[in-house]
Amino acid sequence: MEIKGSIALVTGANRGIGYAFARALIARGAAKVYAAVRDPASVSDRDLTPLRLDVTVPEEVAAAAAAAGDVTMVINNAGVGGFETELLRGSFAGAREAMEINYFGTWAVSRAFAPILARNGGGALINMLSTASWASRPDYPGYAASKAAQWSLTGALREGLREQGTLVIGVHAGFVETDLSSFTDAPKISAEDVAEQTMEALANDRVEVLTDERTRQVKHALSRPVER
Ligand SMILES: NC(=O)c1ccc[n+]([C@@H]2O[C@H](COP(=O)([O-])OP(=O)(O)OC[C@H]3O[C@@H](n4cnc5c(N)ncnc54)[C@H](OP(=O)(O)O)[C@@H]3O)[C@@H](O)[C@H]2O)c1
Repeated sequence: MEIKGSIALVTGANRGIGYAFARALIARGAAKVYAAVRDPASVSDRDLTPLRLDVTVPEEVAAAAAAAGDVTMVINNAGVGGFETELLRGSFAGAREAMEINYFGTWAVSRAFAPILARNGGGALINMLSTASWASRPDYPGYAASKAAQWSLTGALREGLREQGTLVIGVHAGFVETDLSSFTDAPKISAEDVAEQTMEALANDRVEVLTDERTRQVKHALSRPVER
């Protein structure tokens, strides 16, 4: 897809990977980038067009779609960790929130914008996924399940929007240097690296982005027998 001249909407574009996506789009000549965020005042970059959007609030999703009918590209980036839900202890609140935002939020935004993308020539829908989409994690089972669900949804959207000509891309990353991964000292790649690799995929109509070595290894290992 041609990025130059495109009109993009990025959820959670005020910080982290979402902001890197927004800057990469501007750098490649996007005509307009909506920063779709819970609090429009949190967007200080004058190159971006702030738009109120909590992806879990149906009225805000509908209002964003009504306000941004010119969009040709949607990046579902908004997400949370839900890390406070442990495997064998504690309430399910964090895991439920991760499912609401990462999975149902992505689904709600995709539904609302699919007809807009169709009207505007097909365009692209990009979902920010994870290595955890494919790796069960006893240390953050709620997050991993939400990312597995979001990956499944990405496949359904790819098939379901094929006829309308929408390119659906899944972007998988291990740890990325942002607030969300601040709990670990594990090796991380930069948000800018994730954004650049995604721009390359967009420009070359590739449907999957495996941003780091660990993610490539995990994807490769999926066909192996399950270990005890
Ligand atoms: N960092 C990593 O290691 C890593 C690795 C793989 C995938 N990812 C994925 O990358 C995406 C971005 O994460 P990040 O690392 O950039 O995290 P981050 O720095 O914590 O940013 C999260 C973003 O999501 C927004 N958000 C949260 N709930 C929202 C809601 N209900 N509606 C709208 N926006 C909401 C936040 O907005 P507020 O500012 O209002 O809170 C913020 O803009 C997530 O989907 C995450 O799962 C991250």
